[in-house]
Amino acid sequence: MKYLEELAVIGNEPLCPGYFKMRLRSHKISSSLRPGQFVHLRVTDTADPLLRRPFSFADAGDGWFEIIYKVVGKGTRLMSNMRPGALISGLGPLGNGFFLTSLPDHALIVGGGSGVASLLMLAQKLVELGVRTTFLIGARSADGLLCLEKIRSFGCEVMTTTDDGSFGFKGTVPKLMSKVINDGKLNKVKTTIYACGPIPMLIEVVKLRKGLPTFVSLESVMGCGMGACLGCVVPVRDGGYRRVCTEGPIFSADKIDWGKMRG
Ligand SMILES: Cc1cc2nc3c(=O)[nH]c(=O)nc-3n(C[C@H](O)[C@H](O)[C@H](O)COP(=O)(O)OP(=O)(O)OC[C@H]3O[C@@H](n4cnc5c(N)ncnc54)[C@H](O)[C@@H]3O)c2cc1C
Ligand code: FES
Repeated sequence: MKYLEELAVIGNEPLCPGYFKMRLRSHKISSSLRPGQFVHLRVTDTADPLLRRPFSFADAGDGWFEIIYKVVGKGTRLMSNMRPGALISGLGPLGNGFFLTSLPDHALIVGGGSGVASLLMLAQKLVELGVRTTFLIGARSADGLLCLEKIRSFGCEVMTTTDDGSFGFKGTVPKLMSKVINDGKLNKVKTTIYACGPIPMLIEVVKLRKGLPTFVSLESVMGCGMGACLGCVVPVRDGGYRRVCTEGPIFSADKIDWGKMRG
């Protein structure tokens, strides 16, 4: 069930340079969302920007949910200036969410930049369900590593990597993933990879995954969010396209035609 709900900002605070955490009061959306789904926010009453902006649920409780967002353009800049009490129209929960019916023994979660936000609720849920969970967090430098302590508090093993080597492993998060897979400790452990981040990062994850089952959360630019405009489609291997807003944003990596994906 999808709801159109007027959401009140409860809190909107900087998390680290360029990132904010916004908590929104919600009764309908917060009580029906699942990890991996998203909310489509109308960030202004004016015509600029006209379209809603999609954000994954990062946390939720009784009467509220949170998103974590990176300021990248006009919409997110407007959001960063919102104060408690401001009202935003929200449409959600949208998308399919993660499939948690068949569970692995070990989950290897791979998040790059703002992609980490889309994987938080999944990590928490997997630990609750008794799945050993390793969360690899990647960023350009130490001050962009999102939610380290929060993820540790779930009970995940956390490993970090930065492009400039200022914290943790030096290199990209797919390279760290490859190191974890190749060090042999995962041999004979039924492992599934869950990844979210920029398209070039996901392409590298898919290349280096050594055949492990992999689910990706895709972040294409969106229009309606409801399956009508086809603005969000991605190419699939059996020909044709799938809509990220309705058939996604979670896809098996085997389904996507990575050679045709636009970074
Ligand atoms: C299902 C889904 C979940 C998402 N969850 C999160 C989240 O939890 N946290 C978060 O920070 N962001 C998330 N995003 C991305 C977020 O929606 C965009 O960053 C946001 O819409 C940008 O709005 P803007 O008006 O500030 O930027 P715009 O002015 O629209 O664009 C600024 C720049 O960002 C690029 N851009 C815009 N949208 C996207 C996108 N979807 N993917 C890649 N590049 C984009 C544009 O090409 C442009 O270069 C998600 C996207 C999707 C589709
Ligand atoms: S955003 Fe319109 S079909 Fe997906």
